[in-house]
Amino acid sequence: MTEALLSVENLHTQFRTEGGLVQAVDDVSFNIQAGETFALVGESGCGKSVTALSIMGLIPNPPGEITSGSIQFGGVDLLKLSSTEMRSIRGSKIGMIFQEPMSSLNPVLTIESQLAEPLKIHTGLSASAANDRAQELIDMVGIPDSKTRLKQYPHELSGGQRQRIMIAMAMACAPRLLIADEATTALDVTIQAQILDLMQEVTEKSGAALLIITHNLGIVARYADRVAVMYAGKLREVGDASDIYAASQHPYTVGLLRSVPRLDSEKGTPLSPIGGEIPDLTNLPGGCAFNPRCQWAVDRCSVEEPELIEISQGKQVACFEHASVSLNV
Ligand SMILES: Nc1ncnc2c1ncn2[C@@H]1O[C@H](COP(=O)(O)OP(=O)(O)OP(=O)(O)O)[C@@H](O)[C@H]1O
Ligand SMILES: [Mg+2]
Repeated sequence: MTEALLSVENLHTQFRTEGGLVQAVDDVSFNIQAGETFALVGESGCGKSVTALSIMGLIPNPPGEITSGSIQFGGVDLLKLSSTEMRSIRGSKIGMIFQEPMSSLNPVLTIESQLAEPLKIHTGLSASAANDRAQELIDMVGIPDSKTRLKQYPHELSGGQRQRIMIAMAMACAPRLLIADEATTALDVTIQAQILDLMQEVTEKSGAALLIITHNLGIVARYADRVAVMYAGKLREVGDASDIYAASQHPYTVGLLRSVPRLDSEKGTPLSPIGGEIPDLTNLPGGCAFNPRCQWAVDRCSVEEPELIEISQGKQVACFEHASVSLNV
């Protein structure tokens, strides 16, 4: 296998909060190859955004801190870079579409200046060349009448258009990795699909990798090559998307799959959300953190933590009972 574009190894990111220490990312390792679409999936609060922000060098310290691990990107350990070097990588080699688009767009600047400014800084384009490129980017993300749009402010655009602007901004300097953190969650379903199609098309064209972060396994079925399922700060199952859907072997993944509508299920089949509560990261249950919600749990699961192990080529699972887990039980 060729060397990965991004290689996260044993990443630990924690927050000191009033409620106690939160181990938001707990020994997470995964690789993303150039050209690949990789999905990170899990319920609210499991550590998806903190994983992305760790890669971006954007963990607020305090209260947060990356305590150990490495993040290799294109052969460079991002955790060893200065904040200036990291800022330059963020603007040019890694682009991110954040969970809340309005908070990442500046309300008092026109779209043109928000798109053109980073181009001038990171690519050294002249002001007029950067403005031309900004217009091209608006065309690329499928917003009509790009000339007029460039002169507008964020509040003059619809939610879907603002998301497209965010994609244009993240893609402006042709990054090698695009991270989309719940980039389409707030949008209606048809626009969601259009935007995901668009991100995939743009990254495919440029050979970049795409990291999609979502709580919805249904969304990624169509887009991801590989999927990592996260629960309470740890990866629980990693594998090819087709394999995860056809033969998931972690009870939590099975729970997520049962809670989304499937096109191949019989009409009228009820959806079954995962029972129990999302755990409090300051007070996790002993053993496997999923054990109180797990129908396959045995005694061992409440005392011992299962490691993420490779059970077949390219497929990793952290579950003692993985051999008996199946979607149809
Ligand atoms: N700045 C912060 N200060 C304190 N705790 C934080 C901070 N940012 C994140 N956390 C905690 O880290 C944990 C993981 O949060 P994260 O934002 O990664 O969740 P997520 O998986 O992205 O969830 P969602 O699907 O809701 O976006 C949560 O318990 C959260 O409260
Ligand atoms: Mg998040």
